[in-house]
Amino acid sequence: MKSTFPDSPGLRIAPSLLAADFSRLAEHVHVVEQAGAEILHLDVMDGHFVPNISFGVPIIKSLRTQSEMFFDTHLMIAEPGRYAEAFIKAGADLLTFHIEVTQEPEKVAEHIRSLGAKVGISINPDTPVSAIQDVIPEVDLVLVMSVWPGFGGQSFISDVLTKVAQLKPLLKQEQRLEIDGGIDPTTIGAAVAAGADTLVAGSAVFGQPDPVAALKKLEQHAASSLER
Ligand code: DX5
Ligand code: ZN
Repeated sequence: MKSTFPDSPGLRIAPSLLAADFSRLAEHVHVVEQAGAEILHLDVMDGHFVPNISFGVPIIKSLRTQSEMFFDTHLMIAEPGRYAEAFIKAGADLLTFHIEVTQEPEKVAEHIRSLGAKVGISINPDTPVSAIQDVIPEVDLVLVMSVWPGFGGQSFISDVLTKVAQLKPLLKQEQRLEIDGGIDPTTIGAAVAAGADTLVAGSAVFGQPDPVAALKKLEQHAASSLER
């Protein structure tokens, strides 16, 4: 039960489960899936690369039985290569790892791909685009962090939009440009205008009393920014 990488171009909101009520994970997953979300963003934190611990393989394995959404798995961990196989076996469709943790990103990307998953590379707010230039051809998605990784609910760092705009012309049409952190109705428009097509939103979806209405609101703001 796996969904495919959204290959049709266009905007996608990827709800981040980090902001959900962890005692009701399956319920929350069903709510956004029924509302039409195609991508579910899963934040894995190891307490080393980031100063927080979230969830790992067993949760993803359980959620895989509950959903056909594309599992966009954001590995905020120090050794992505070491755990790639376990996450993919559990049902992750894409593994995004951070450039800051590896000297050999091409090798990690190839390893993930050889295990049958899609690959993403991420940069922290202070990491320049030049750091990932060589690995871009090897990935399906580039993730620009618009907060410091580790926690949901932080304020959007608008300076990173320069990097989004810089990355856009470097990517092929089938490569997604994702932004993660502080995306809400007031920031999503600028992210889309800069070139992001995959918008992660945690607090702005699951932190709201009505996650479905919140998701629709984000979609509307994103789409209207494109029309402008
Ligand atoms: C932060 C995570 C984000 C987080 C986003 O380290 O990578 O995906 O869940 O949360 P919000 O949307 O609340 O900023
Ligand atoms: Zn994330």
